Parts: sequence; C-alpha cells; structure tokens
Amino acid sequence: MNHPFYVETPIKFDENTGLGNCEKPALERRYSNMKNMYLDEEARAGKEAAGDDLIYNFYELGVPEKEGELAYGTSIVYPGKVGNEYHMTNGHFHTILDTAEIYYCQAGHGVMMMESPEGDVLYKEMKKGEAVYVPGRYAHRSINVSETETLITFYVFRADAGHDYGSIKEKGFRKLVVEEEGSWKVIDNPRWNG
Ligand code: NI
Repeated sequence: MNHPFYVETPIKFDENTGLGNCEKPALERRYSNMKNMYLDEEARAGKEAAGDDLIYNFYELGVPEKEGELAYGTSIVYPGKVGNEYHMTNGHFHTILDTAEIYYCQAGHGVMMMESPEGDVLYKEMKKGEAVYVPGRYAHRSINVSETETLITFYVFRADAGHDYGSIKEKGFRKLVVEEEGSWKVIDNPRWNG
C-alpha cells in the first residue's frame, strides 16, 4: 500500500501519554500560554510565577491538512485548577465551521464543553471508555474535572477543517466548569459579554 499515512508499524496507544508513536508533543500549553483564559487571572499569574507547569499538550502524527484525510491524535489535560476553575484547553471552532469531531476518552474524567455561534450550549461528561460526538458548528473545549487523574482523549476530524481560536480568545465560552464542594459544576461565565 503506497499511502504516506498508511504505516506498516502499529499505531499504538500508550496508557500514560496517549499516542505512543510520538516522541514529543506537537503542542504544549502552560500557565504562561493562557493569559486571561481563566476567570481568576490573578491565580493564573500566581501559578505561572510558581513554576509555570504544563496544563495540556497534544500528540499527533502530522497528517496534512488536505481534503479527504483524517487528522487524529491525543489531547492530554493534566489535573489542576486555576482558582476553582478546572484545567482546560483553549477550545476552538473549526474554520470549516460545519465539521464534526469524535473524542474518545482513553483515561481520566472530563467534560466536553460545546457551544454554537448562536449560543446553544452543550456539555458532556467523559469517562474512560466513553466517546463524545462534537456536532459541526460547535466550538469545543476539553476540561479535566478530576483532582488527581490525567485526562487523555483521542480525537479525529477531517484534516482540512482548520482551527479558529479568535472569537474564544476574545470572549471565552459562555459557560465555565468549576469545582464546588468536591464536584464539578457548570456556571455562567461572568466575563462573557455577548
Ligand atoms: Ni476540533
């Protein structure tokens, strides 16, 4: 088979890092990379000053962004909170807005937060062995709601869909996921300004 992304070696999934074939993450995000993304900016700045730990990273095999191909990889969100807000990814729309995506939870406990440009909000808990179907048009963000476990999800979507972070960096999501009395809770984002 002569296809650049059909590989003879098995595509392995590692219990701890997600995609086993990758030597290093394709992208990583620390506290210093997420200024103003959390409600409690003072708490975020404090964590940046106190060692600037990793919040999340991605492993992927670099499928080209071409029509007909499937981009896939693993997203890894480390446990922790900024104030009472759980560690999360920036989140994105797809540039080709009407593009769905599958996330399969390989380890940990998370919430997939989703919202459409019109303001419809969906959120779905993800536990090990469960998948979430993110419908086209919905921005999506992975949130680790475990105090101790790393959240590892496998994702796949059309490779030419692209990522649009712009509107989320300006406004965030309409809802936040916070810890309250030991469990996760969805609240309105007080900074969301329409
Ligand atoms: Ni996506």
